[in-house]
Amino acid sequence: MSSPKFDRSLVMDAVRVTEQAAIAAWSMVGRGDEKEADRAAVEAMREALNDLDIDGHIVIGEGERDEAPMLFIGERLGKATGVSLDIAVDPLEGTTLTAKAMANALAVMAWAPKGTLLNAPDTYMDKIAIGPGYPAGVIDLDRSAADNAKAIADAKGVPVDEITACVLDRPRHAEIISGLRAVGVRVHLISDGDVAGVINCTNPETGIDFYIGQGGAPEGVLACAALRCVGGQFQGRLVFRNSDERARAARWGIKDLDRKYDLHEIVRAEAIFCATGVTKGVLLDGVKVGGGYVRTHTLVMDSVSGTVNEVRMRRPV
Ligand code: FBP
Repeated sequence: MSSPKFDRSLVMDAVRVTEQAAIAAWSMVGRGDEKEADRAAVEAMREALNDLDIDGHIVIGEGERDEAPMLFIGERLGKATGVSLDIAVDPLEGTTLTAKAMANALAVMAWAPKGTLLNAPDTYMDKIAIGPGYPAGVIDLDRSAADNAKAIADAKGVPVDEITACVLDRPRHAEIISGLRAVGVRVHLISDGDVAGVINCTNPETGIDFYIGQGGAPEGVLACAALRCVGGQFQGRLVFRNSDERARAARWGIKDLDRKYDLHEIVRAEAIFCATGVTKGVLLDGVKVGGGYVRTHTLVMDSVSGTVNEVRMRRPV
């Protein structure tokens, strides 16, 4: 699959899309209404996408057509001109974080050439991720969390008690957490937001060495787009809790339900990844409104040029 030219204008188009979603979601920060916060972000993101000279196809979105009126899987967006793209969106990654005015809520999107993003159903995914600089094959989803931590420590040349793992704070992760602590690994628990959890492994300033645990499969695809841009390793396996979820997978052509996916099987070509902060977090500042302006902070990565840019935008309200 040939890569599109992710020229600067396309990259800046992506920035405008997540900015609009973040600004819309910001209006609902701290208002205790997760659904309305998500709705605002979805509507703004869809409007911004429809304004662009792209032929976009939602691959990761708000759900299937019968359950999501906007940004449903298969929806075609843009003016149907220009480059043909698979689009993965999470207009509001951290609906609870937004509703409760907590840190780390983001508006997130990834673009890749049409037909190159995994059609992941809206199920859970077991995930493990590390940042760049490690030899291939250091992590393996089929090993225990503790064994992965030891392999990462060996590759890094440090004792295992100098390793920090990021894990979603959920009862289902009790065994992972106790296994890690038993060998001396520090566990950095997050209440939500595992796209940022994975990206934080790529930034030594966060002190996080790896991400492990079960989160949303759509968020897994978005995180892989970011890793494709900045480097790193990822493995994921879809988790099906019932026959309906298995049927969803079948609808999207997934035959081997136990398959372990590698980063390059989830994002099979060059990609653009873009995230704008809704509330202030480790990765980004949140939306700020004051003095007649709205200010946004966006991270945009382009795997073709290998560039990572932080865009701080100020617009009159
Ligand atoms: P929402 O923004 O949809 O609330 O998702 C936040 C999130 O924490 C994701 O980052 C993560 O992948 C998923 O929820 C985990 O799901 P659950 O809350 O069911 O454990």
